[in-house]
Amino acid sequence: MNVFAICGSLRKESFNLKTLHAAVEIAPKTMTFDVYDRLADVPPYNEDVREKGYPPVVEDLRARIKKADALLFVTPEYNFSVPGVLKNAIDWASRPPDQPFSGKPAAIMSASPSMLGGGRAQYHLRQMFVFLNIFAVNQPEVIIPAAQQKFDANGKLTDETAKKFMGQLLVNLQNWANQVNA
Ligand code: FNR
Repeated sequence: MNVFAICGSLRKESFNLKTLHAAVEIAPKTMTFDVYDRLADVPPYNEDVREKGYPPVVEDLRARIKKADALLFVTPEYNFSVPGVLKNAIDWASRPPDQPFSGKPAAIMSASPSMLGGGRAQYHLRQMFVFLNIFAVNQPEVIIPAAQQKFDANGKLTDETAKKFMGQLLVNLQNWANQVNA
């Protein structure tokens, strides 16, 4: 199962990127991950540009989403919502023809130094999923609060409870994807 994974932070020391890396380690061995590495290169959405054709970086993003069996979003919460860079990439990828998100199973994780762990961004993502026709796994929710205390000096997730929920969410994603893609 090929999972397209995208982190909503561009920060090198991002807690969410570290969370994504932990997910890759914890995931069932039957899952392989295409970790998106070009978020910083996606230009600001412009309909005039799109009308002339997708920029190559967006073509690549759309193709990678299209060929994925499942999606994993790992994102910070910015101003109680999804970071603009992630929303921008979703906006680009979501345009016709062949909207690539449609019908894809997905899971969400978030980490934040705050006590709410970025959960509000997760709910805004879920709202977008309705329009995008993405089918998100509901449970368990992987929300990592006080993230500054949850990773060691090597960037490894140390919170055993978070790891347990993360592992369960990924198993549920795999099972859900098998059903949705059957
Ligand atoms: C934040 N941060 C933040 N945290 C949160 O829990 N809720 C929020 O609404 C916001 N808002 C917000 C806006 C902006 C513009 C920034 C830059 C930051 C703090 C944020 O969670 C923190 O910077 C995380 O470390 C960002 O995630 P990464 O980069 O560590 O993955």
